[in-house]
This record gives sequence, structure tokens and C-alpha cells, in this order.
Amino acid sequence: MASLVWHPVEVALLDGTLTDGTVTLRAVDGGDGSDVFAALSSDPTVARWTRVPWPYTRAHLDEFLRAVKVWHSGRTDLALAITDSGTGEFFGCMGLHRVGYPDLPRSAFLPDEVGYWVQAGVRGRGVATRALRVLSQYALDVLERPRLNLQTKVGNEASVTVARRVGYQFVARVPARDVDDDDVDHDRYVLRAADLEASRSRPSVSAEPAHPADAAGTATSSPSAP
Ligand SMILES: CC(C)(COP(=O)(O)OP(=O)(O)OC[C@H]1O[C@@H](n2cnc3c(N)ncnc32)[C@H](O)[C@@H]1OP(=O)(O)O)[C@@H](O)C(=O)NCCC(=O)NCCS
Repeated sequence: MASLVWHPVEVALLDGTLTDGTVTLRAVDGGDGSDVFAALSSDPTVARWTRVPWPYTRAHLDEFLRAVKVWHSGRTDLALAITDSGTGEFFGCMGLHRVGYPDLPRSAFLPDEVGYWVQAGVRGRGVATRALRVLSQYALDVLERPRLNLQTKVGNEASVTVARRVGYQFVARVPARDVDDDDVDHDRYVLRAADLEASRSRPSVSAEPAHPADAAGTATSSPSAP
């Protein structure tokens, strides 16, 4: 029987940035509080598709910023601000969670799991796709994660479009009964280095179906974490 050994990985990004020249990712800090609050308290879309609560209050923000401190001091998770490389404008957040945790197939919280949101005013400009590509490359190449996990609530076509563009592959549909903190089915995606590489050479990723080919998986694991 596999032992459930905790394998923390030194998360190296915390003092630096990641960029593709258009978007830049850096560690979230208290200075992002007002932008995070403004975005999440004014738009229920993020709460609809993630674990972010709604209505979003100052207490939720404080809880998030406390969690970020714990994650970063323990070097277990990365909470990143997505920003404009030119102006520094705040676009949203992206996380890499439970870095190096052991695989717990029935857990709602997967190891090396990516989550993200982009604020309403800048959606549809490729921000999430760029940011996810940059973070995924870093996690696979620098953190040497063998694969990355991503979970979407069924029906979140914008997120599926982003994930598939970056090369994430549909693995299974997780029925709601196996999602221990939610009541909707989730789709699970995985990215490996070869998938990321292949996605770069695709002539027109947008020509692909936005939804996974109804691969009727039943599943072993569960939901999504922003
Ligand atoms: C998902 C999300 C992060 C995407 O951010 P974004 O910066 O707008 O993403 P991108 O611009 O890189 O790509 C989104 C693509 O999805 C497309 N899209 C948007 N809504 C769609 C829908 N209902 N059906 C199909 N495609 C959709 C966009 O048109 C765009 O494609 P295009 O470039 O061909 O126009 C953003 O919508 C969001 O924050 N949603 C709420 C939180 C969330 O769902 N997080 C993910 C949880 S798994």
C-alpha cells in the first residue's frame, strides 16, 4: 500500500516574477488586498465557478491573505497576482496548490493543482491563457512537477477553453457525490510537459471543441481550487 508521505517542494518563485512579456506573475501580498476585494466583491462569476465565497466580504479577504502567508511561509502553495507587464495593473489571481503533496485519488484537493480567476473587465483578452502557460511551464520545468492538475465545474466553458489551449488533457468527470465540498460534477484535467510543448505547435487551438469530448469517465477524485 502506498504510503502517504508529505513531500514538500521548495517553491522558488516567491521573491521573483514570471513573465511572457505581456503578463507578469508575482507573489500575492497584502498590497493586493484592495484589488482582490474590488474584483471579488463586485462579480459573482468567480464564486460561481470556484471556491471563492459569495457575497465576498472583508472577512473573506482577510482569511485569504492569512492563508497566503501560511502557504508562502510553509512554501507549500503559490498564490500569484496576474499583472500587466507594462503597467503593473492587477488582472487577477492564479495559484499552484499543495506542491509536491502525495496523490490522494479521492481527495477534493489535488496535489500540484492550478486554479485561477481574472477580473471581469479584462476577460477575453488572453490573460488567463498566457498566465496559465507561464505558470505551467515554471511548475513543470523549474519545480519539476511530473504533472499538473486542474479541475473545472461542468459548464465552465471559458476555463475549459483556457485549459485546453495550454495543453491540459481531459482525464475524467468526477460526479458530485465524490466532490466532498460541492454539489456539481467536476471535470479533471492533467498537463504533462509533452502536452504543453504540443500545445505550442498547434496552428489554431481555438478551432478545437471547447468542451472535452464527453469522455464518459466516472472518476476517482474531485473539485477545483482557485
Ligand atoms: C476562466 C477565466 C479565468 C478566463 O479568463 P480570460 O482571461 O478571459 O481567459 P482568456 O481570454 O485567456 O480565454 C478565454 C476564452 O474563453 C472564451 N470563452 C468565454 N466564455 C466562453 C463560453 N461560455 N464558452 C466558450 N468559450 C468561452 C473566450 O472567448 C476566450 O476565447 P477567445 O480568445 O477565442 O475569445 C475567467 O473567465 C474567470 O475568471 N472566470 C471565473 C473564475 C473561473 O472560472 N476560474 C476557473 C476555475 S476552474
